[in-house]
Amino acid sequence: MTPTTPTFYVQNIPVYGDVILSPMAGFSDLPYRLICREYGSAMSYTEFVSADGILHESERTFEMLKFAPSESPMVFQIFGSDETLLEEAARKIEQLGPDIIDLNMGCSVRKVAGRGAGAALLRDPAKIGRIFRRLSRALSVPVTGKIRLGWDSDSLNYLDVLRAMEDNGAALVAVHGRTKVQAYNGAANWDAIAEIKQAAGIPVIGNGDVQAAADIDRMKQHTGCDAVMVARTAIGNPWIFQRKDIQNVTLAEKAALIYRHLDLMLDFYGEERGLVLFRKHVVKYVRGLSHIAQVKARLVTCTRPEEFIELMNQYEADAAAREAARPVFEPAPEYSCAGVVC
Ligand SMILES: Cc1cc2nc3c(=O)[nH]c(=O)nc-3n(C[C@H](O)[C@H](O)[C@H](O)COP(=O)(O)O)c2cc1C
Repeated sequence: MTPTTPTFYVQNIPVYGDVILSPMAGFSDLPYRLICREYGSAMSYTEFVSADGILHESERTFEMLKFAPSESPMVFQIFGSDETLLEEAARKIEQLGPDIIDLNMGCSVRKVAGRGAGAALLRDPAKIGRIFRRLSRALSVPVTGKIRLGWDSDSLNYLDVLRAMEDNGAALVAVHGRTKVQAYNGAANWDAIAEIKQAAGIPVIGNGDVQAAADIDRMKQHTGCDAVMVARTAIGNPWIFQRKDIQNVTLAEKAALIYRHLDLMLDFYGEERGLVLFRKHVVKYVRGLSHIAQVKARLVTCTRPEEFIELMNQYEADAAAREAARPVFEPAPEYSCAGVVC
């Protein structure tokens, strides 16, 4: 249930709730964000969009920036390395009406970090300070950032980065508790997130390794953070935002959501592209279901939505038939109370 009083503020923007869908390239599009918001995610972040793409008016980039009014607070996340281009791009997308603009300082992939953007910015806190000064002066919406703990274990400069951000107008920091070099290896360092929270005068969102509902409160207790971001665990599992574990989700609930998500995808992307882009969600939704392997292979190769729906309907009917045919356990006489048939 959405809290009636704000959990925290990003400058003057209230945030109701303490679990948030993390920005994820290829996943956190408008259809999936809408679902996660319905299930309790407290903010919407776009996936990261490049400053170059914005300035070149790439159609794909602007598609990623589409949002619904119900998504407020809506955060546009940008990445880039050039201070002037970042400012120009941010000014341009501010016109589209986001509540917040966020700078990505966490992406570790070579295509991004290898070009001085994403996590590469962490190597230069002074530059981070300059970018935040420019963005917070140029924009009328709050400017926030998402970071990692540093480049590698020998350069854990997260407190310097926090200082550079805060001294130059940052309104919130989200922290993935790993270094760039770690990528996704090893455990996320929640102690470091706690240290950041202790030092910060702005809200802190903790991120990394929430795998089950209990981890949300565990991370909050361990770090004191204002909210928790969930990425990988939320794929195919928006129930995490209700603090409900996937093992407790029924097939009927999963199927209903699959149909609804598919509908949103077809509406947003059109039939052909919507169905293809939905495949990566489907494999996560059906993970762990019994007798799913062959059906899954067909779900992710079929080319018409009607065919997809028929396959799902058939799977549901077969699952119901298997359930009905399951023998009800009755104790055999030899195992019943001391030989007396009861
Ligand atoms: C497929 C994928 C795409 C991602 N894309 C982004 C992105 O666009 N922007 C960003 O800040 N982080 C991105 N991340 C990082 C996540 O937001 C998050 O920080 C990271 O996965 C750790 O959280 P988790 O342990 O809950 O997965 C991405 C992660 C994944 C798995």
